[in-house]
Amino acid sequence: MGKTTTATLRQMKGEERPITMITAYDYPTAKLVDEAGIDVILVGDSLGMVVLGYDSTIPVTIEDMLHHTKAVTRGAKHALVVTDLPFLTYHGSFDRTLDACRRLLQEGGAQAVKLEGGQEVANLVQRLTDAGVPVMGHLGLTPQSVYQLGGYKVQGKDEFTAKKLIADAKALEEAGVFAIVLECVPAALAKQVSAMLEIPTIGIGAGVHCDGQVLVFHDLVGFGSELQPKFVKQYAQVGCEVVDAVRQYVAEVRERRFPTAEHSYKMDDSVLARLYG
Ligand code: KIV
Ligand code: NA
Repeated sequence: MGKTTTATLRQMKGEERPITMITAYDYPTAKLVDEAGIDVILVGDSLGMVVLGYDSTIPVTIEDMLHHTKAVTRGAKHALVVTDLPFLTYHGSFDRTLDACRRLLQEGGAQAVKLEGGQEVANLVQRLTDAGVPVMGHLGLTPQSVYQLGGYKVQGKDEFTAKKLIADAKALEEAGVFAIVLECVPAALAKQVSAMLEIPTIGIGAGVHCDGQVLVFHDLVGFGSELQPKFVKQYAQVGCEVVDAVRQYVAEVRERRFPTAEHSYKMDDSVLARLYG
């Protein structure tokens, strides 16, 4: 199995093979999800909430993204690695945006960047793709705009916002994105958008008719994320396992049941005798 590329994803859409995507923020997780056969790893700026403990993605910096991207790309052998451009790194000067992309791809080793928004970023996407930067789009609930959207809620439910989402998706495709994440969008609308586009859609809370699905790793395995949106399916409760394991460790240390001889190193009695003779 070779490295997944943006061309692989387009081909998968053509063959109606669903694309699998998951977030990862560190080396061991990247290795594990890669071994599990995931197609795309997203170093999402959700890392701000999931592993850095902020209450939104707004505080995440390019340095944060770079730090985690480097760890992930060292662990990802087959999966395509996509990294989020953080808040306000792609609305100022083009040179600054280009430098952010350069760092994530050149220093970080990612294969693509993801950014949020529709028609308003289409011109930027065009310039980036012209420069050879593969770009993934992100529409619907765009968490970097949480203060404008007024919370984390479903997008595109009424005619006006649904039409806007369709126009945004078309604009992004024309500008050259290789795929679009649709987040928190009614399933019927996501189905229509997916059918309309040549490039794949990857849904999160967007129904089964997207060309692929993405979930946040910590949500999927139940690792330290308490707030569970409706669209999350928890496939494991790793957090409970961690608490159980650490509780046992704490108890065994306190009762001097750990470490045992099995976990300890020996030395020759003769050496000991000479030391303390
Ligand atoms: O940051 C993230 O994890 C994301 C996914 C939810 C698509 O953008
Ligand atoms: Na994100």
